[in-house]
Amino acid sequence: MIHLGKVMVVFGTRPEAIKMAPVVKELKSSEDLDTVVVVTAQHREMLDQVLNLFGIRPDYDLDLMREKQDLYSITSGVLNGIKDILEKEKPDLVLVHGDTTTTFAAALAAFYAKIPVGHVEAGLRTRNKYSPFPEEMNRTLTGRLAELHFAPTDTARENLLSESTASFKIWVTGNTVIDALLATVKPDYKFGSEFKDINFNNRLLLVTTHRRENWGDKMRGIYQALIDLVEEFPDVEVVFPVHMNPIVRNLAMDMLGNKKRIHLLEPLDYEPFANLMNVCYMVLTDSGGLQEEAPSLGKPVLVLRDTTERPEAVKAGTVKLVGTVRDNIYREAKLLLTDKMEYDRMAKAINPYGDGRASKRIVKIVREFLYVRIGAS
Ligand code: UD1
Ligand code: UDP
Repeated sequence: MIHLGKVMVVFGTRPEAIKMAPVVKELKSSEDLDTVVVVTAQHREMLDQVLNLFGIRPDYDLDLMREKQDLYSITSGVLNGIKDILEKEKPDLVLVHGDTTTTFAAALAAFYAKIPVGHVEAGLRTRNKYSPFPEEMNRTLTGRLAELHFAPTDTARENLLSESTASFKIWVTGNTVIDALLATVKPDYKFGSEFKDINFNNRLLLVTTHRRENWGDKMRGIYQALIDLVEEFPDVEVVFPVHMNPIVRNLAMDMLGNKKRIHLLEPLDYEPFANLMNVCYMVLTDSGGLQEEAPSLGKPVLVLRDTTERPEAVKAGTVKLVGTVRDNIYREAKLLLTDKMEYDRMAKAINPYGDGRASKRIVKIVREFLYVRIGAS
């Protein structure tokens, strides 16, 4: 057996961990590869629950999260932390995911060490550098640094081609989030005691918010629309696992803390969360990943943002961009709560993001890349 080399996988936040877990599993099952897992822990609790669920034990943990950390400190912390590990481990390839500050700074560290980077979930774009902020720039810059681009869809591939990325460096693999989701959603899932106050016979609106460009008045508008909706519809309950960012948390507690039929929960482990998505009526969110997961479960999604880098589900009609203005959110949600035809039109299960085999494809390409490199050296 030829030893193909060492792959270092770096991630730091909840969504990256969910989407990289199937890739790590697949890499670890390849006997001809060494796999080193590095977490920056840009998120602490929200990351750890995903590591536990998927049984990932990191080889390195930079433990970078600080209360109300800013972008400068995350970027420099990741850059310097990864530098030392690269010097020690000397990997043949570094894999990063998506668009967080961990992603960009880890790719930059690998570039400085002249180690090739593979970018998982490459090529998503809004073409608006401040929306989402700083993610649009993080993923664009990571794309410039990367050698291998694992695009989830044809649209993402087209985006990369339009930036003059060489076509032979791009592979359309599907999104690994579907691999994770399919392994996690169970039709007979039993919800635990943290859901005891929720009446599952009511229509559940699953809500999440955290985007930096929505902080302040926009987030106020979103929360006010939720209040309007529960006041208008007695059979509607809002289930809102609140992100740990204190800026989001404090506002959510202030505005929604004591409202009837609005349940503010701690961030949920991925297993209950994914299964909650499977039984809810619809999703209201500014998250990226939920726009990929909910369509494959047949749940309409109202996206609480002005731009999206995930146009595939919008085109297919299961995701609608509604922005952050209170009245617009209220109107669009009301339509789905009152107009069955409109609801049925949106609630169709589609799967533009993959078939659950993206990580297998990615690891196959990684192995071929390393094999060719051995031949060339
Ligand atoms: C970050 C990513 C964003 C991604 C999101 C997923 C950046 C700039 N932003 O968002 O792209 O969509 O993660 O959730 O990379 N905190 C905790 N415990 C945790 C996590 C966060 O206490 O487990 C608190 C800390 O006070 C921390 C704050 O939340 O300072 C914000 O964390 P940060 O990494 O900046 O997250 P976001 O920008 O919200
Ligand atoms: N998620 C979770 N628990 C929660 C909320 C979300 O496990 O309480 C999952 C969700 O299913 C998705 C990912 O976290 O896979 C999305 O994370 P987030 O919204 O923080 O980031 P984004 O997708 O916007 O980058």
